[in-house]
Amino acid sequence: MKIEDTTVVVVGGASGLGEGTVRSLASKGAQVAILDLDAVKGEVVADETGASFFAADIVSVDSVSDAFDKISAKYGTPRVLVNCAGIGPAEKAVGDNLEPNRLDSFRRTIDLNLVGTFNTCCQFASRLAAGKMNGEERGVIINTASVAAYDGQIGHCGYASSKAAVIGLTLPLARELAAHAIRVATIAPGNFLTPMFEQNLTPEQIAAIGAMTTFPKRLGRPEEFAMMVESIILNPMINGETIRIDGCLSLAGMQLGDALVRQN
Ligand SMILES: NC(=O)c1ccc[n+]([C@@H]2O[C@H](COP(=O)([O-])OP(=O)(O)OC[C@H]3O[C@@H](n4cnc5c(N)ncnc54)[C@H](O)[C@@H]3O)[C@@H](O)[C@H]2O)c1
Repeated sequence: MKIEDTTVVVVGGASGLGEGTVRSLASKGAQVAILDLDAVKGEVVADETGASFFAADIVSVDSVSDAFDKISAKYGTPRVLVNCAGIGPAEKAVGDNLEPNRLDSFRRTIDLNLVGTFNTCCQFASRLAAGKMNGEERGVIINTASVAAYDGQIGHCGYASSKAAVIGLTLPLARELAAHAIRVATIAPGNFLTPMFEQNLTPEQIAAIGAMTTFPKRLGRPEEFAMMVESIILNPMINGETIRIDGCLSLAGMQLGDALVRQN
């Protein structure tokens, strides 16, 4: 699959890794549709890149279906879906006051990171399966997990298990959608510099977390995530696989700061 003139939907494209992907793909001639909840940031990124913004909440079937109808009406059926929307709240199973978790944030994290991802996959693939072939394939889905799926931290029961489930989604979805010539791959990033970090941590904390990466000793950059997205689009043999991009990161010694972990 080439990038130039291909219609790509970037879910969560208003910020962070998704925004980096929008900027990179648009600069290489893709027709990019940003699907995001945040219309203010989404419109700004769209204006700056020549992409188009479509508002949707990925946990809603109707909202995502409506957005895909609008995207298809504008560009034709999209061939690439990049799922970057996600949240990572931290909350303990048992708080310091020994109160059990109330499950609200756990349920919300699973709903958004897992159910929302599956929702956009289904809406995208059902339209593309009815579309024309492009050479030997129709298109590709790229989901975003996290190294937290393998190496989860205290306070991240919801986040880590939602991302492990996104990895678990990869193979059965790839096997099913192979019948429609649609590939599925997942990226598991390590620590990347995005608003998720910038809004919650001091520069000193960010530098300390970056130094935990084995090599290079820094946080990843959104454009480096975008490079992996582009490789997956271009290489038809990448299918049914989860690829770590984490600078050989081990989170064994890392603790989410107390400031980040809600006490229920
Ligand atoms: N930044 C990292 O270090 C890192 C590491 C591993 C995995 N990830 C994963 O990468 C993805 C992107 O992370 P990021 O750091 O760029 O986050 P971010 O907060 O910068 O961007 C997330 C985007 O998702 C959108 N979004 C949130 N809820 C939505 C909803 N219900 N419907 C539609 N859009 C919604 C937000 O508006 C935002 O634009 C997430 O899934 C995250 O878990 C990030």
